[in-house]
Amino acid sequence: MWDMHDSSRYVVGIDIGTTTVRCVVGHIDATNGAPSIVGVGEVPNTGMRKGTVINLNGPAQAIDDALGEAERMSGHQVDAATVSVNGSHILSTTTDGMIAVSAADHVVNADDIARIEEVATVGKVPPNREILEVVPHSYRLDGQDNIKDPVGMTGTRLEIVANVISALTPNINTLHSVLDMAKVAPNTLVPSVIAAARAVLNEQQLENGVAVIDMGGSTTSVAVFEEGDLQYASVISVGGNNITNDLAIGLKTDPEIAEKVKLTHGSAVPQSGSETVSVKHDKETFEFRREEVDEIVGARLDELFEIITKELKKAGRYAKLPSGVVLTGGGARLKHLADYTKNSLGLAARIGKPKGFGGVAEHMDEPQYAVAVGLMISDTGGARSNKQHKTEGRSKAIAGNASGFVKRFLGRLKT
Ligand SMILES: Nc1ncnc2c1ncn2[C@@H]1O[C@H](COP(=O)(O)OP(=O)(O)OP(=O)(O)O)[C@@H](O)[C@H]1O
Ligand SMILES: [Mg+2]
Repeated sequence: MWDMHDSSRYVVGIDIGTTTVRCVVGHIDATNGAPSIVGVGEVPNTGMRKGTVINLNGPAQAIDDALGEAERMSGHQVDAATVSVNGSHILSTTTDGMIAVSAADHVVNADDIARIEEVATVGKVPPNREILEVVPHSYRLDGQDNIKDPVGMTGTRLEIVANVISALTPNINTLHSVLDMAKVAPNTLVPSVIAAARAVLNEQQLENGVAVIDMGGSTTSVAVFEEGDLQYASVISVGGNNITNDLAIGLKTDPEIAEKVKLTHGSAVPQSGSETVSVKHDKETFEFRREEVDEIVGARLDELFEIITKELKKAGRYAKLPSGVVLTGGGARLKHLADYTKNSLGLAARIGKPKGFGGVAEHMDEPQYAVAVGLMISDTGGARSNKQHKTEGRSKAIAGNASGFVKRFLGRLKT
């Protein structure tokens, strides 16, 4: 019953979120090479804090269950996938490097690119860190500045400025243990917010300048793009669950009731209406003052967006993002969050919905699926390390299939 012989036609993303594990199975259409969603699994998670694993069993079980759902729906047995990594240990560093062009004719080739990336990363990222992505920003060849792709150009001295995204090795090892237990081979590990960006951004936004804010249950991640390149990424340990906890404390009620209040009456921008709001829980009705709910939600958002503003400033792009901000994650479903974001950051803001992947599951175009869909798009469909994956992207670029980082970044999305 399982399709065992042609696994290359399937791509799989697994988003291991603190509150929820989401798995999306895509099938690559032979005619246009674009994936369409054929299987989905969504299961509540346990054993995670602030985006990282604190006990192996919880996430391993949730992954197994989510995969089971997606496998039954798609009829495809999943043994490898592209998987999310999240947590405040994820770091974005700008590095540089220089090499002598090796070929006798001084034409820059793929080996030079691999070599200069190594020079720019080895020893420049602390030894207890794994490199997840190397994003070349620009090259300089014999003093000629701002080269995007030097392959085929002639020169002797090649320099690079790049952005390196890394994660703490112990955290990566723990993630590997969880995946081992769930019997899934990770093709690549991708920071959640970068995966989300792949699902919701288009080339124009990447070129213009745009930030993605992925608001999950216990984390909020920021990724800034400009000129087609990832410029900066960072993870804040505050998410939607903090709003719930604040409501539970402030309204002196159970977290389950507070969550219901948030989902049904919570709003990022206070709305006029009745003076009280009510929710039903265990056949009982609980009433709260709307003003108090608005105040608690607003205070937490103000605090979070102050941190987000700091991060955008660190990226050097504050209020310089013509394509504004795209919000993803379950937290982005809070009512009027786009309006709030617009006012708070002074930038255009909208909710990011992964669109155009057709297939079986209807609510895939909601922001909480952005990460899983982006991971599916990123999936190469075969077990390989980050490094090999990178090299392949590179050789494709050289073959002329992709020009520059924009196409590489969006990958299959644009085929
Ligand atoms: N309709 C809604 N309105 C407001 N908040 C919502 C809504 N739906 C979901 N949320 C919130 O979204 C959060 C979960 O988002 P998501 O599923 O993206 O998190 P996660 O990926 O599991 O966590 P993390 O990314 O932090 O590891 C929860 O705090 C939940 O309360
Ligand atoms: Mg998440």
